[in-house]
Amino acid sequence: MYKKLSTRTANRLLCGGQIINISSVSADGVSDVMTAAWNCPYDADQVLIVLDRGHTTTANILDNGKFVISIPSEDDISVINKVGAAHGRDVGDKFAWAGIESDKSQVLGLKVIPNAL
Ligand SMILES: Cc1cc2nc3c(=O)[nH]c(=O)nc-3n(C[C@H](O)[C@H](O)[C@H](O)COP(=O)(O)O)c2cc1C
Repeated sequence: MYKKLSTRTANRLLCGGQIINISSVSADGVSDVMTAAWNCPYDADQVLIVLDRGHTTTANILDNGKFVISIPSEDDISVINKVGAAHGRDVGDKFAWAGIESDKSQVLGLKVIPNAL
């Protein structure tokens, strides 16, 4: 039997619901990290992420093309919400602002939230 689903439920089923964090850095070296729910695989080697035009992350990626995606664990829920509730342009280095002792990503050397999955 076919059932009518709410848009919220349909989106949840289509996207899987995985939360990610996106690290980036500004042209003048200020590190940023945000939370994104709107993401899914796009092709075998591509990911699709929907980013608001006004986010600092979006500006950083358009500036230098560098970003790192990490999958946080449930233990990091307060960090996930914190970095998803302030703009880097308002708070400066978001890792410092949020009190996160960052790790460095292997390839790009961007600051990342430690102990991601
Ligand atoms: C659980 C959660 C999910 C979010 N998902 C998205 C998303 O998919 N796309 C988006 O543009 N913003 C999303 N946000 C909002 C950004 O994380 C938030 O606006 C953040 O402050 C942007 O930071 P920035 O300006 O430093 O880049 C989400 C926030 C939370 C808490």
